[in-house]
Amino acid sequence: KKLTIINGPNLNLLGKREPNIYGSLSFTEFLEEIKQKYTHVEIDYFQSNIEGELIDKLHEVGFNHDGIILNAAAYTHTSVGIGDAVKAIETPVIEVHISNTFNREEFRHQSYISPNARGVILGFGLQSYELAIQSFIN
Ligand code: DQA
Repeated sequence: KKLTIINGPNLNLLGKREPNIYGSLSFTEFLEEIKQKYTHVEIDYFQSNIEGELIDKLHEVGFNHDGIILNAAAYTHTSVGIGDAVKAIETPVIEVHISNTFNREEFRHQSYISPNARGVILGFGLQSYELAIQSFIN
């Protein structure tokens, strides 16, 4: 199986950024652990702080991969364009968030991704990504 993890803005700072909310592990460290644990799946990774690059990536992998795990970060709450891209592609998308966005500010309760996602996993820290991988494997 071929999966792609797509991370949006500021997630390149994981480990350094507000560790009380997002934890102290960097995403690359986490990804290494995950790749060693799930050797039978191919896991690609892409991160960008630029909205259009995230859309380009969704188009690129959206017709030939088995699953996409998308944390659009702040664009989740603002981007009609990313929401439309998720709708346009064929590959199922699981929306993930590290934090529980529903116990945070009101503006984080809205998602342009959720209506077109296969499912949503949030609030489990980096484990949210692992649960998404497991759901694609099963
Ligand atoms: C986030 C939640 C978003 O509201 C926030 O803008 C992020 C990270 C999360 O994974 O918890 O950057 O997507």
